[in-house]
Amino acid sequence: MKINLINTAKAMVADGKGLLAMDESNPTCNKRFAKLGIPQTVEARRAYRELIVTTPGLGESISGAILFDETIRQQKKGGTPFIKILTDAGIIPGIKVDTGAKDLAAHPGEKITEGLDGLRDRLKEYFQMGARFAKWRAVIAIGGNIPSRSCLEANAHALARYAALCQEAGLVPIVEPEVLMDGEHTLEQCRKVTEETLRNVFIQLNCQRVLLEGMILKPNMVLPGLICPPHKEVQEVGVGEQQYQVRLKDRQPDELQDVDEVADATVNSLLRTVPAALPGIAFLSGGQPSELASARLNAMNVRFKARLPWALTFSFSRAIQQPALEIWQGKEANVKAAQQALLHRARCNRAARRGEYTAAMERI
Ligand code: 13P
Repeated sequence: MKINLINTAKAMVADGKGLLAMDESNPTCNKRFAKLGIPQTVEARRAYRELIVTTPGLGESISGAILFDETIRQQKKGGTPFIKILTDAGIIPGIKVDTGAKDLAAHPGEKITEGLDGLRDRLKEYFQMGARFAKWRAVIAIGGNIPSRSCLEANAHALARYAALCQEAGLVPIVEPEVLMDGEHTLEQCRKVTEETLRNVFIQLNCQRVLLEGMILKPNMVLPGLICPPHKEVQEVGVGEQQYQVRLKDRQPDELQDVDEVADATVNSLLRTVPAALPGIAFLSGGQPSELASARLNAMNVRFKARLPWALTFSFSRAIQQPALEIWQGKEANVKAAQQALLHRARCNRAARRGEYTAAMERI
């Protein structure tokens, strides 16, 4: 069992590849569809996921895809299950198993992720369906007096309970504690909260006897808040999902400097808090513009790769999918162009994971 977990975790970060998060819950997926005038139906969600999993060549850059419960049970038109299409393309299927972040009682502005009840049975079913890894996302907000110690501990505890259950079921847990970008906080505040969050997470993982070699960490990058005053440009380009048209080649030199600052702060925080036994760290994109997310991951690998104990890769959702979704718009005629856009972002991120990404790749 242990060796299978270790091998799966290694495969998830092998060959310069990364993960594709396509596990938006129905409400989140519908929200993104609604913004583009796409019908919010089971069939539209199925058609969109078919577009993604049938993209030719996706397996060259993507090692694993995280699915939502609805999607893991769906098929391509004609009947082939998505899970078989992925496996045939050399992409390991994974599954989001938390049931969402809910208000934490007595803690205004803070959330606790739910989904532990009945999890053992659900994991068993997902394993039988062919999933080999899982994901659970905790969210940590930064504000006046938050995060509280109790919020950090409760979320870390839930992540560790989930991770232990996954390993018992033969699934590699992706442990995702996301410190949110929303707010006025500085990069330094994000660094402090990220480090505190990760310290709590690894204390709890050890407590629950989670095998570190058989898990993947999915953290945020260390970034200033979206409305942090000195980073006004980030506020203008980075809020929400409409901002992806901002191109790296149009950026000013001071913004590019921010890429190195983010890379240094992020990697230094991880070096202080994440045990070397982990095979890999795969970042979420968190609403960053696609090209900036690639540039920042690239800078981390260029500047640190030679001395890192773990692989540093991506597990992006919006920063891979958003351009494709905007091209697709729910129309069959746009499928090919949308697949090209998806493949392009997957390739850019693969290059970033190897430290070989350049802004010129975006002009091809
Ligand atoms: P984003 O890359 O859009 O932040 O999504 C990653 C993810 O899987 C969140 O759980």
